[in-house]
Amino acid sequence: MSDKEYTNDEELEVNKGVVEETEENKVEDDEYEKVCFVCHRPESTAGKMIELPNRIYVCNDCMQKSFDAMSSGRYDFSQLMDNPNVQIFNMDDLPKDIPKQQKLKKKKEDEEVVPLIDINNLPAPHKIKASLDEYVIGQEQAKKAMSVAVYNHYKRVGTDTMDDIEIEKSNMLMIGPTGSGKTYLVKTLAKILEVPLAITDATSLTEAGYIGDDIESVVSKLLAAAGNDVQKAEQGIIFIDEIDKIAKKKNSSQRDVSGESVQQGMLKLLEGSDVEVPVGANSKNAMVPLTTVNTRNILFICGGAFPDLEKITKERLLKKSSIGFGADLKDKYDNDKNLLDKVSVEDLRTFGMIPEFIGRLPVIVTLKALDEEMLVTILKEPRNAILKQYQKLLALDEVQLEFNEEALHAIAKRAIEKDTGARALRAIIEEFMLDIMYEVPKDSNIGKVIITKEYIEGTGGPVIRLRNQNVIG
Ligand SMILES: Nc1ncnc2c1ncn2[C@@H]1O[C@H](COP(=O)(O)OP(=O)(O)O)[C@@H](O)[C@H]1O
Ligand SMILES: [Mg+2]
Repeated sequence: MSDKEYTNDEELEVNKGVVEETEENKVEDDEYEKVCFVCHRPESTAGKMIELPNRIYVCNDCMQKSFDAMSSGRYDFSQLMDNPNVQIFNMDDLPKDIPKQQKLKKKKEDEEVVPLIDINNLPAPHKIKASLDEYVIGQEQAKKAMSVAVYNHYKRVGTDTMDDIEIEKSNMLMIGPTGSGKTYLVKTLAKILEVPLAITDATSLTEAGYIGDDIESVVSKLLAAAGNDVQKAEQGIIFIDEIDKIAKKKNSSQRDVSGESVQQGMLKLLEGSDVEVPVGANSKNAMVPLTTVNTRNILFICGGAFPDLEKITKERLLKKSSIGFGADLKDKYDNDKNLLDKVSVEDLRTFGMIPEFIGRLPVIVTLKALDEEMLVTILKEPRNAILKQYQKLLALDEVQLEFNEEALHAIAKRAIEKDTGARALRAIIEEFMLDIMYEVPKDSNIGKVIITKEYIEGTGGPVIRLRNQNVIG
């Protein structure tokens, strides 16, 4: 034992210090379930917990097991203290608490599953699309299709009827070149609807048991995004990016643990099933609690660039029409900008997606590569357009920032050369705004900066106006 003897009063003092029962702790404890310190099961599964100092909880089963172990052993525990090698187990040395991220939100008692979106207040498709329009430029067809699909999905969740007419789930597949706004569209959608969203990369997934994330980890992420509230997570959106990377590998003799097997493994998730997921971690192991999440009402959106899919479509279309009187010319589809709209399930199969997988993604939306006009609009129109951001920054120094229309087109042209869609815009602007952001604050006489085409193309400088309107140029 410790070499200092406490008087009764002192001991009380010490204990008070150990259990920090602050107001904050109490409130947080109320919201989260207690978790057994030994087996890591939450209170809803393991039953009432026994409370030990330091906010450590042990479930009945584990407590019983320890007692059983003690009483059935050959060792006489009353002699324990005489053994010089035994030290007293000090509760204070234990980690203080199980981390919050591994705790589950308590289920509210006698409360029906509350739909996150009230079916009577569900915004109609045209309203959803109008909100999307504020952020996402172009992609009209995709925005329309997504608004309808999401509307129907949440109607289905809201009614939750299990009668003879069961509304089927409208999981989505988004196809579009890189930087065309796939991820952005989904992010915006989740923000508008205020539902939890998890974004994962299909490339990091592997079949269970192999290096990489288990397929179920996507649900785990959603649970974290929903603040460990199972009910909320069960109505969220999961976006799986780079889905084209898990296409079946052609002529491979090895076991394909990150391609076809992942597609196979996702089938059940997409359709709706109970999955056991780790709370607050990406993989199941002994140290994290598990919980069950039903994926029936989770909206899955898969997205990918599907390079060369157009080629497959073109080949199919040409083959179909190459015989008889209706035969087409070989180059008929060569300049067809809307070839992706003609993509069929058959083409996706040829690409390497398994039929069962595509079958579970009934809504297919395609996005187009952004052209110069659209890129210019993206620069200036959306709510948080890049130009607006810079204008705001400079406005804080009371400097006006203006871009010539020609300059914007020059930026868009350079972005198109990079072939990464709208993603290139930011990098290009950063590059030449650097000098401006550095030089302008030096001189408090500067009142206005106009970015010109010449400045973008490196043949001239920006137009600078002083506060007393003299043009320097
Ligand atoms: N149609 C669009 N309208 C407005 N901004 C866009 C659009 N497409 C892309 N962007 C911008 O480009 C960035 C990258 O787009 P992202 O959605 O990540 O591309 P991807 O299609 O490869 O997922 C977004 O963060 C957004 O700022
Ligand atoms: Mg993306």
